[in-house]
Amino acid sequence: MNIELSEEHLAVRDAARDFAQNVLKPGVIERDEEQRFPKDEIKQLGELGFMGMMVDPKYGGGGMDTVSYVLAMEEISKVDASCSVVMSVNNSLYCWGIEKYGSEEQKQKYLVPCATGEKIGAFCLSEPEAGSDATSQRTTAEDKGDHYLLNGTKNWITNGGSASYYIVIAQTDVEKGHRGINAFIVEQSMEGFVVGAKENKLGIRASDTHTLLFNDVKVPKENRIGEDGFGFKFAMQILSGGRIGIASQALGIASGAYELALAYSKERQAFGKPISQHQAIAFKLADMATEIEAARLLCLKAAWLKDQKQNFDKEGAMAKVFASKVAMDVTVEAVQVHGGYGFVKEYHVERLMRDAKITQIYEGTSEIQKIVISRAVLRD
Ligand code: CAA
Repeated sequence: MNIELSEEHLAVRDAARDFAQNVLKPGVIERDEEQRFPKDEIKQLGELGFMGMMVDPKYGGGGMDTVSYVLAMEEISKVDASCSVVMSVNNSLYCWGIEKYGSEEQKQKYLVPCATGEKIGAFCLSEPEAGSDATSQRTTAEDKGDHYLLNGTKNWITNGGSASYYIVIAQTDVEKGHRGINAFIVEQSMEGFVVGAKENKLGIRASDTHTLLFNDVKVPKENRIGEDGFGFKFAMQILSGGRIGIASQALGIASGAYELALAYSKERQAFGKPISQHQAIAFKLADMATEIEAARLLCLKAAWLKDQKQNFDKEGAMAKVFASKVAMDVTVEAVQVHGGYGFVKEYHVERLMRDAKITQIYEGTSEIQKIVISRAVLRD
């Protein structure tokens, strides 16, 4: 790995940091409490080029590399993980999927508006009985000649109510197993598409997670992504890239909590000196800093491999499983460093602790990452 951050990388990181600290931070507690989607904030992120960071500028994107994406995701997630999951799903799961495998018509119609942040995209794989076991899709898309008829239910869909366009994974031929699965682009305005219940969540509460229902939705044939039967491999590849985004989100949640704990420990006095001068606290800070640095290096390595067009499946899974564990450990310790203040909302660390948990669950649980890693190490 050869990563030296360039001036451009540092400029991206600084722009994301400024935006997070000056625009996101002031309203983050209220948005979390009221479960209010950060609509204006996402629009501004789009104007900064952060909603389609890696998309070619000819499709309205920022033309940046994945290393820049990791840096921006860390800074946004330090403050507002609800905002960063919207950003991550739009960038990695939606835009990357269409840019990599979509037709030119699909790119013009469905990528450009989401890469510019004018509209938002979502990715729909999980179902009531198919989350980790992604081949067990029950949603069906029946071939009707010039269109598919889509029927089924999707669960836990990030951006579920706020997206305009959705990549939906569905079974087209159950006999063929995973080779009978396809991916389609579905518009929220299509007849038969119903946005169902919104989830009331432990963390990332300002993000918009819904059940979606498809009742005889007519999806034009030209909205299928790739060759017939490509949907499962498409989903696996796109989720693999998405894991770099969620690993960076976890990294940001951890480093945000660490920075708050570090600052607080220097101010708070106990037994005649700042608590940072007590070894019990100083060692916690040392552990947090070490774990965060290791998580950051794993995220950057996976991103660098992706930018070099090398396989990054194993490294992305390693980054995600490790960074999400670090996010849990560090946020719990950051609350502890704050003592009673850590338990109240205005100190921010309790929210980061709640937000951390989902990073061990979505875009593949930690157990799924270990399946991916163990298969790779046994194969190598
Ligand atoms: N790239 C390309 N192809 C891949 C692949 C990858 N990364 N991983 C698997 N495949 C291919 C395999 O090569 C195989 O193809 P062939 O049969 O032609 O060889 C095919 O896909 C099936 O692969 P497996 O036999 O390995 O499949 P499996 O059933 O054993 O599943 C799994 C593997 C890793 C457990 C997979 O099911 C998985 O990743 N599950 C988790 C899904 C997930 O992340 N769900 C989260 C929902 S999305 C979300 O959370 C988004 C959000 O809103 C935030």
